[in-house]
Amino acid sequence: MVSILVVYGSSEGQTEKISNRIVELFEGMGHDATAVPVEDVTADTTLDAFDAIVVGSSIHLGKHAKKVSAFASANREILDARPNAFFQVSLSSAIEDEEHKAEAAAYVDEFVEKTAWHPDRIAMFGGALRYSKYGFLTRIMMKRIASDATGDTDTSRDYEYTDWEEVETFASDFATLVAGDTPADGETEGTQA
Ligand SMILES: Cc1cc2nc3c(=O)[nH]c(=O)nc-3n(C[C@H](O)[C@H](O)[C@H](O)COP(=O)(O)O)c2cc1C
Repeated sequence: MVSILVVYGSSEGQTEKISNRIVELFEGMGHDATAVPVEDVTADTTLDAFDAIVVGSSIHLGKHAKKVSAFASANREILDARPNAFFQVSLSSAIEDEEHKAEAAAYVDEFVEKTAWHPDRIAMFGGALRYSKYGFLTRIMMKRIASDATGDTDTSRDYEYTDWEEVETFASDFATLVAGDTPADGETEGTQA
């Protein structure tokens, strides 16, 4: 069993929902996992206590959550010292054409450049349109964006684009990485092939 921390930045809740699902999947594999909003990570949070760390952020107006970028920059050495992964949540990843795939990949490139953190694993998940959470102006803006992007413009309901199978694949791939990197019970570091 290993301990895994998932730190996330979420404005309307989809990245939080994905983080909680990742925790559930890790727990289902017998690991000890916790999801923490980046706002709750303080100087007192003992990141060193975790065997592996996953960081997640949504995209708003082309940018990741500022606190997530700051967290990754400030804790790069701690992240690099253990298995680590980054996942991004955006509307771009909800759309299956080359233009939007490139857009989502460009957000990741910018994040890596800005933070100088090169995650062991990177995933890009489709997010959600949560009209129920938007204020008046944001609802109008997102409806306009959606009419070009997904066509989902009924503001009386929310739309979710996350592919939960992709989330499962990400979690199990990361768990495999962690298992390969963590000495089994009774073994000391350095005895692994
Ligand atoms: C104000 C606003 C701006 C957004 N800007 C972008 C954007 O520039 N690119 C993109 O791909 N998705 C964009 N999105 C879509 C979000 O990334 C998507 O809704 C995601 O699910 C939000 O995750 P969260 O609920 O964890 O904050 C935007 C959403 C909102 C509400």
